[in-house]
Amino acid sequence: MRKLPAGRPSPFKVYVSASSRGLAFEIARQFARDGADIALSSRNASHLDTARQTLLAESPQARVLTIQGDIANVGDQEKILATLDAEDFQPDVFVCSAGHPMEGRLSSLSRADWSHELEMILGHAVFASQKFTSAMAERGFGRLIFLSSLYAKAPNHDFFISSLARSALFALSKMVAREYADRAVAAFVVCLGYIDTPLLRNRALGRPHDEPDPEESLLETWSARYEEWAAEIPAKRIATPAELARFISFLTLPETEYLSGNVFSFSGGLDKEII
Ligand SMILES: NC(=O)c1ccc[n+]([C@@H]2O[C@H](COP(=O)([O-])OP(=O)(O)OC[C@H]3O[C@@H](n4cnc5c(N)ncnc54)[C@H](OP(=O)(O)O)[C@@H]3O)[C@@H](O)[C@H]2O)c1
Repeated sequence: MRKLPAGRPSPFKVYVSASSRGLAFEIARQFARDGADIALSSRNASHLDTARQTLLAESPQARVLTIQGDIANVGDQEKILATLDAEDFQPDVFVCSAGHPMEGRLSSLSRADWSHELEMILGHAVFASQKFTSAMAERGFGRLIFLSSLYAKAPNHDFFISSLARSALFALSKMVAREYADRAVAAFVVCLGYIDTPLLRNRALGRPHDEPDPEESLLETWSARYEEWAAEIPAKRIATPAELARFISFLTLPETEYLSGNVFSFSGGLDKEII
């Protein structure tokens, strides 16, 4: 009979996709504080550089690798995986985040949008998982954590592609769990509610979600929207990226192995579904 691994590997390597800012950056930051080496990817080289400097200032012991690439683009996905290889960075943990999917209904969906969004949400998730899992299994430890949204559990027709593609992450996680459970590789999905990030603040202000962080002068407007949204959440508050990051870090402890294949909601009680 096999035994539960005694601990996380040392050195411990974590790749977080789409992670130059927002909640994915905060997850990388938590892992750096935990003593891990970190690989980050995103489209914008200057965002990545700022992220790298912040991590190194706080966690000077960490190796921080940044890879510029758009995960909606197949060539860039391959470049990211090839760079990890070339840098001899074999992740023990893959936290799969993405950009914010486009809004819109089935009736307005174009073929070009379909391909772009599927590659961004699922393409990198599938092919990075394919690349990482067998090496994790050989080393006898691994975690794949796919970030999804509440619309994946309760589809919203105004967010057609997000609801559809992010629910496919459930099947991906289950299939990885079944194939690799006997080699200490576990997979999870975390469905997100409201997390206080630049994306959420820009949405509250009616600005494009990719804008830089809102200026201080706009924080009062943001705060009013924050209170409206918080009132709808049973927990009566919007989560911080830091608390999400601590939960994601917890999922990488050896003791979570038996939870593999589970879908978690991180929503302050907003999620009404039983399963
Ligand atoms: N915040 C929430 O309340 C919430 C709730 C549910 C789901 N989510 C989901 O969680 C994810 C992160 O959200 P967030 O609030 O942290 O967003 P954010 O603050 O806008 O950060 C998004 C991050 O993704 C990177 N990115 C965007 N598109 C990319 C692409 N095509 N290829 C590579 N990197 C890309 C951005 O970096 P660059 O600009 O440098 O590329 C940035 O680092 C999104 O998928 C979002 O839909 C968030």
